[in-house]
Amino acid sequence: MARYFITGGKPLRGEIRVSGSKNATLPILAACLLHGAPNVISGVPALKDVDTMCAVLSYLGARIYRHGDVVRVDSTGVQNLEVGEELMRRMRASNLVLGPLVGRFRCARISYPGGCNIGSRPMNLHLKGLRAMGARIEERFGYITVEAPRLVGAEIHLDVPSVGATENIMMAAVLARGVTVIRNAAKEPEVVDLQNFLNRMGARIKGAGTDVIRIEGVEHLSSVEHTVIPDRIEAGTHLVAAAITGGDVRVTNVIPEHLEPVLAKLREMGLEVEVGDDWVRVAARSRPRAVDIKTLPYPGFPTDMQPQMMALAALAEGTSIITETIFENRFKQAGELRRMGANIKVEGQTAIVKGVEKLTGASVVATDLRAGAALVLAALAAENGTVVDGVEHIDRGYERLEQKYAQLGARILRVPA
Ligand code: UD1
Repeated sequence: MARYFITGGKPLRGEIRVSGSKNATLPILAACLLHGAPNVISGVPALKDVDTMCAVLSYLGARIYRHGDVVRVDSTGVQNLEVGEELMRRMRASNLVLGPLVGRFRCARISYPGGCNIGSRPMNLHLKGLRAMGARIEERFGYITVEAPRLVGAEIHLDVPSVGATENIMMAAVLARGVTVIRNAAKEPEVVDLQNFLNRMGARIKGAGTDVIRIEGVEHLSSVEHTVIPDRIEAGTHLVAAAITGGDVRVTNVIPEHLEPVLAKLREMGLEVEVGDDWVRVAARSRPRAVDIKTLPYPGFPTDMQPQMMALAALAEGTSIITETIFENRFKQAGELRRMGANIKVEGQTAIVKGVEKLTGASVVATDLRAGAALVLAALAAENGTVVDGVEHIDRGYERLEQKYAQLGARILRVPA
């Protein structure tokens, strides 16, 4: 357990390098279960969620070697096909082992991930996909058991473009007999990275990045080396850090097109945005203007950036309307921001944010990963000191955030709680 002491009011300036994408790394690590040979993944961020996925793979019998940002996963010895409650509760994305386990071993059992802080997050679409491919599924005593003596290609239409369901179905389909087509698939860049990784292994997948993905089953896969894409949400968070502190920050190791929905909103708020090949710079010359935001599946505005933008809107000139359409409980940061002087009213899935001229330091609690990031951003901009508790949530998705921001001039200290 740790907390941050942050003394705000200092504009952040300088350059910051983004780590590899958490949400690309997790399914790619899970996909290593698909065959019994080693794969080497580079650009892997040092995050708690990555530790958890490595713990899950080890528990199943894989051998993991980590050195810096390189991870070697050897799934030759995998024999255990069950993930229990403790590991599933630590991280929802542990459910990404289901598709590859069923694909390779034809059966798997995981504890039901249940709800989480930001919403109920069911798995019905993951299971609908596996069922369409011939799997028998039993949900009893808090566990999901999937058995598929024969996994065959199928046409699967997702009711909503779920990222996790798209990835799990893709991974299960790689070794299935025949062709699987996923319609209304998630188009997130992390799905494209997973496709690229799987194809390098020998899979035959087309269409990731569009809403129709076609997977032709293959018999064999082989070892590969792969570098994960940069984390677009980490990058977006740093751009907001520049904007909210009235600073000027160049964020490197980014794929600017992945950030387009965020950059469009920052421009609309009056921030100066400069884009290079693999970097983006944001400078704040004046107080940002209010903006309306609606979260949507990619390429819409990402729900994972909504709390951070709420912190920025809290200090903008005018009233912003923020609508959350992906998760039902993702305004937890609003109450904490109010403790810092923000004027935010939440009505159902909409937040009305009336910008104030200044925020003041307070004692606040991070309830989940991105809400925690939003509080850090608000604290960097606030007058005087803020204590942010619950830093373990922030560690799930940001690598050494305090060190990165200290390098940009922030006064931020991590202390044990
Ligand atoms: C992934 C990301 C997470 C991000 C989210 C939405 C990872 C590891 N996590 O989560 O950071 O916030 O995408 O961009 O990549 N749904 C169903 N049934 C299902 C599955 C999902 O109804 O079977 C609904 C969810 O409740 C939610 C929506 O679909 O309303 C999107 O969820 P989904 O895309 O599945 O999110 P995750 O893959 O869990």
